[in-house]
Amino acid sequence: MSEAFAAKGLFISFEGIDGSGKSTQARLLADHLRAHGRDVVLTREPGGSPGAEEIRALVLQGEPDRWSAETELLLFTAARRDHLERTIRPALAAGKVVICDRFADSTRMYQGLSRGDLRQAVDDLHTLMIGVEPDLTILIDMDPAKGLSRALARKTVEERFEDFGEELQAKMRAGFLALATEFADRFTVIDGGRSIDDVAKDVINTVTFRT
Ligand code: ADP
Ligand code: TYD
Repeated sequence: MSEAFAAKGLFISFEGIDGSGKSTQARLLADHLRAHGRDVVLTREPGGSPGAEEIRALVLQGEPDRWSAETELLLFTAARRDHLERTIRPALAAGKVVICDRFADSTRMYQGLSRGDLRQAVDDLHTLMIGVEPDLTILIDMDPAKGLSRALARKTVEERFEDFGEELQAKMRAGFLALATEFADRFTVIDGGRSIDDVAKDVINTVTFRT
C-alpha cells in the first residue's frame, strides 16, 4: 500500500443481501491488513458508535411494519451521521483503514427501493447529512434463497428485515448489481456462492489491487 493511502486513510465498505457473507469477509480482511501492519477500524451499520448502536435496536427489532419507510430513512441517516462523526472521520484522519459492514448503499437499496421509490429522498438526505462515499465498495453477490437461509440460521432478534422474506432479498440483489454499474468506479462485485476462503482471496486481491 502506498504511503499516500497510509497518510490519508482508506474507507472500504462491504455490501450485499442478508447472509451473503459480508461480516465474515470484513473480519477476514481486517485480520489480513492488520497482519500486514495496517491500523484497521472494523465497524458496521447500522451502528458503529454508541448512539448509533442504540438506534440499531430500534430499526432491526420488532415487527416489519414498525416504521414507515420515511421514518426508517431518517433513523438510518441519524445513525450514520453519528457513526461518521464519532468513528469513521476520526479514524480516516488518523490514517487508518476503515472497513465498514454496510454503508449508504444499503440505504439506497433498503429504504430507497423496498417500499416504493424513495431513492431521490435517500440521495438528497445523503448529500445534506453524510456527503462521503467509500473509496472502495465490495459487493458480495449471492443467490437470495441461499442468503436468506444462511441469515435465518443465525437466529437472532435482529430479524425485522429478514422477515420481509425472499422476494425482498431478490429485489435487493438486483438493485445492488445495478448500483455496482451506477458507481462502477468504486464497486467490485465478488461471487459469494463459494467457500469462505475462495471469496476471501478475491477480496484481498481486490483491496491489494486498488491500493
Ligand atoms: P452477512 O454479514 O452478509 O449477513 P455473515 O458473514 O454473517 O453474512 O454470514 C452469514 C452466515 O453464513 C454465517 O453463519 C457464516 O458463518 C456463514 N457463511 C459466510 N460465508 C460463507 C460461505 N462462503 N460459505 C458458507 N457459509 C458462509
Ligand atoms: P446487518 O446487520 O448487516 O444484517 P445482515 O448481517 O443480515 O446482512 O444489517 C441489518 C439489516 O439492516 C439488513 O437487513 C439491512 C438493513 N439496513 C437498512 O435497511 N438500511 C441501511 O442503511 C443499513 C445500513 C442496513
